[in-house]
Amino acid sequence: MMPLVVSGFFYAASDSQRLAGKVAVITGGASGIGKATATEFIKNGAKVIIADIQDDLGHSVAAELGPDAAYTRCDVADEAQVAAAVGLAVKRHGHLDVFHNNAGIAGRLPGRRSPPPVKRSSGLLHQFSTAANSQRLAGKVAVITGAASGIGKASAKEFIGNGAKVILADVQDDLGRAVAAELGPGATYTRCDVTDEAQVAAAVDLAVARHGALDVFYSNAGVLGSIAPAPLASLDLAEFDRVMAVNARAAVAAAKHAARAMVPRRSGCVLFTGSVSGVVGGTGPTSYGVSKAAVLGVVRAVAGELARHGVRANAVSPCGVATPLSMVQVLEAYPGMSFEELKNAMAASMEQMEAGPLIDPEDVARAAVFLASDEAKYINGHNLVVDGGFTVGKLLKIPKE
Ligand SMILES: NC(=O)c1ccc[n+]([C@@H]2O[C@H](COP(=O)([O-])OP(=O)(O)OC[C@H]3O[C@@H](n4cnc5c(N)ncnc54)[C@H](O)[C@@H]3O)[C@@H](O)[C@H]2O)c1
Repeated sequence: MMPLVVSGFFYAASDSQRLAGKVAVITGGASGIGKATATEFIKNGAKVIIADIQDDLGHSVAAELGPDAAYTRCDVADEAQVAAAVGLAVKRHGHLDVFHNNAGIAGRLPGRRSPPPVKRSSGLLHQFSTAANSQRLAGKVAVITGAASGIGKASAKEFIGNGAKVILADVQDDLGRAVAAELGPGATYTRCDVTDEAQVAAAVDLAVARHGALDVFYSNAGVLGSIAPAPLASLDLAEFDRVMAVNARAAVAAAKHAARAMVPRRSGCVLFTGSVSGVVGGTGPTSYGVSKAAVLGVVRAVAGELARHGVRANAVSPCGVATPLSMVQVLEAYPGMSFEELKNAMAASMEQMEAGPLIDPEDVARAAVFLASDEAKYINGHNLVVDGGFTVGKLLKIPKE
């Protein structure tokens, strides 16, 4: 299993023991975010080495957290002590899965002689704790567009598995109904062409009429457009409009009608499927890249306006996922390749990131569950890239033939 270095705060999977068997070192683990993280990690089944320079506090936190926690002194400014903390984890537990590089200092504020006193309240940390159960969307009602296939279908399944009721909205009626039937009574299919504002409004109204409220609108439906390589000078602007209508204009319609249902309740979450093509140029057809960059603009605009009304907006941006959207049209452009050859070529490219095989729709779906859940209640205006590291320096290597 690939070790993980964490400098932030995103942990999600589909059960309450999602770190079972994992070993973590958390620097700055005696206090604040580090202590809260150690608490959550242990609740989720991990063994934790708390590494800090506040020895008395660290020892008492470790004692409080029980036998799965141990304290070690570790000044992170001293490389040898960092190495020793890692060595301790490996010696004690046989391996290290997560290094949470969390310790930090703020420096002195101008004009201030000594740091302000810190009020300690053991209860405060619990307000921020991750719900330790697998029903993270219990009682929530969601609309998911493009839910008859791929990422949307996987998301509908994960949402329902986590306790939500889901309206699956798509234009593939037979497939959408079959998926809803497969997912059981928590799922309802409705036809919704996202390029038609009235149909988007109707999907929201259906959720409210059937379940009393709308908590999550996941604007996921999308099209890739033509991927036949063509110079920008030959860009077909009619095709551009078509892609923008499904991927970008529909995202605005989703936000508009979700806000209509959510703002009066001062609660809700609008999610969007972006793409790495909206983040890095040259990783998709031009129209598609522009449309997905626009989605990220929608996220920022909507988050900025709705935060004060208690409504959040975030995006999940995947890299290559083997769904009809990516595979069918790529195969059309590379007729010499079989589906399996193409999938293997994409997987080989991803494997160079040591992130394992090709991203599964479920990997994206789980990120969406996290963002939709109350665990993400302070995450707003964010683009959660799900790409195994692609956007930080890897190139997609699909053979031409
Ligand atoms: N597959 C990838 O590699 C990849 C990568 C990054 C982002 N995405 C994005 O993920 C989202 C889902 O795509 P997917 O990969 O699951 O593909 P998919 O083809 O499996 O699913 C797309 C769904 O959107 C629906 N749809 C298309 N036009 C619609 C419309 N006008 N109204 C309502 N529904 C419509 C389709 O019927 C289909 O069910 C898209 O926004 C896509 O851009 C996909």
